[in-house]
Amino acid sequence: MAHVSAEVSVVLDRASGVPLAVQLADGLRRAATSGALRAGDRLPSSRALAAELGVSRTVTAAAFDQLLAEGWVAGRRGSGTYVTTVPAGAGAVASGDPATGDRASAMSTVDLRPGTPCIEVVDRAAWRRAWRAAADETPQAAPCPVGLPAFRAAVVEHLLRHRGLPAADVLATAGSTSAVAELAATFPPGARIGVEEPGYQRAVQAVLTAGARVVPVPVDDGGLIVDALPSGLAAVYCTPANQYPLGGRLSAERRVALVDRARRERFLVVEDDYDGELRYDVAPLPLLAALGPDVVAHLGTASKLLTPTLGVGWLVAPPAVRAAVRDHRDRTGLRPSPAGQRVFAALTAHGDLARHLRRLRHELGARRAAVVAALDAVGVRWRGDEAGAHVVAELPDAAAEAVAVAAAAGRGVALDGLARHFAGPATAAGVVLGYAGPPRAELERALPVVADVLVAG
Ligand SMILES: Cc1ncc(COP(=O)(O)O)c(C=O)c1O
Repeated sequence: MAHVSAEVSVVLDRASGVPLAVQLADGLRRAATSGALRAGDRLPSSRALAAELGVSRTVTAAAFDQLLAEGWVAGRRGSGTYVTTVPAGAGAVASGDPATGDRASAMSTVDLRPGTPCIEVVDRAAWRRAWRAAADETPQAAPCPVGLPAFRAAVVEHLLRHRGLPAADVLATAGSTSAVAELAATFPPGARIGVEEPGYQRAVQAVLTAGARVVPVPVDDGGLIVDALPSGLAAVYCTPANQYPLGGRLSAERRVALVDRARRERFLVVEDDYDGELRYDVAPLPLLAALGPDVVAHLGTASKLLTPTLGVGWLVAPPAVRAAVRDHRDRTGLRPSPAGQRVFAALTAHGDLARHLRRLRHELGARRAAVVAALDAVGVRWRGDEAGAHVVAELPDAAAEAVAVAAAAGRGVALDGLARHFAGPATAAGVVLGYAGPPRAELERALPVVADVLVAG
């Protein structure tokens, strides 16, 4: 194992205005980027390094603390500090821990796990305008459990324009996942709720937390296999626009069959339309909520269109379901926060959201094309419609999946294995490649690494 002082020369400039601790942290980071430091290398103690560099121990301790916080190194001062992950090649810099979902510390990792929106195309001027407009609103004393009127009107317009759904009444939510939790809480304890397998595990957890039981239902390239739904369900949660994570679209035949069964068997269909606005080939199929407004609770979110930090979503549901959610809010005092609603409403007011959506589709369509081209070039099989913000690259088995994820992490790319998207044992292996999150240049830099590790798998 390399010892930093032997391998790495960090030059500190005492005349510079930059604090010595900052210079030292920079120097160590550079050493990792250039390959002089490798994952697993042990750093000298802060005391030894201080003596060697002729600085006080406060300086080295502060630099180590900084690197620890960023996730470059791990361990404890005193018992040894180790470099965690660094790239094999120059350029990409690994840090953070994809396995623990620690995105905040993943400062320079190219993060290709799904679920992060494309911030790069958000027009900052429009964003600032919307926040300013939101700030101009008069403070209100009373909370609004159903959501602000301006937000609800904006969503009605959005649904009509972009999803072809005439919705008379919209409830604001704090996002799709929290709406699933709210809906699940309206069922009696032990109610059986069908979920897609593989599927969105946060929805699964929300259902379980509410005291309902989860019934996994298989999916294929045509989405949820409606014929595989058992009887006796209280609700079925699904992602018909773009099955998460496999990326199929629920066929028209299955849509009709699902709504028919829901009516006959009196269960609620929860339609999570999380990135339904993002298709790059054909127009979206009619929403389940349009086919069966009497049996479908439709969920939308701004998380993928803009950012989850707005914390806004919407629910369109039959009157009894709306009333049950409202009742739950009244009893618990839980309600969506209005700040993000104001911003969303302001963004729609002058066409900024529609412009953003056009840019987003264009950008994500191009990114998707780059991802599938990189996979095709090396003969890796993938699945997923021309939609959304991820594709699934297939691997032969769970072992190959684990190896690919670890190899990519070692080269500064965070990948997401398919296994974690199953509620039960995984029946398919691969990685879910999210292409929206990183800046385009980083994505392009990471694609050769992805191709490499997948081919090796
Ligand atoms: C299927 C699905 N639904 C919903 C969400 C998140 O929505 P929200 O942030 O509104 O809870 C995600 C995020 O990854 C998702 O994958």
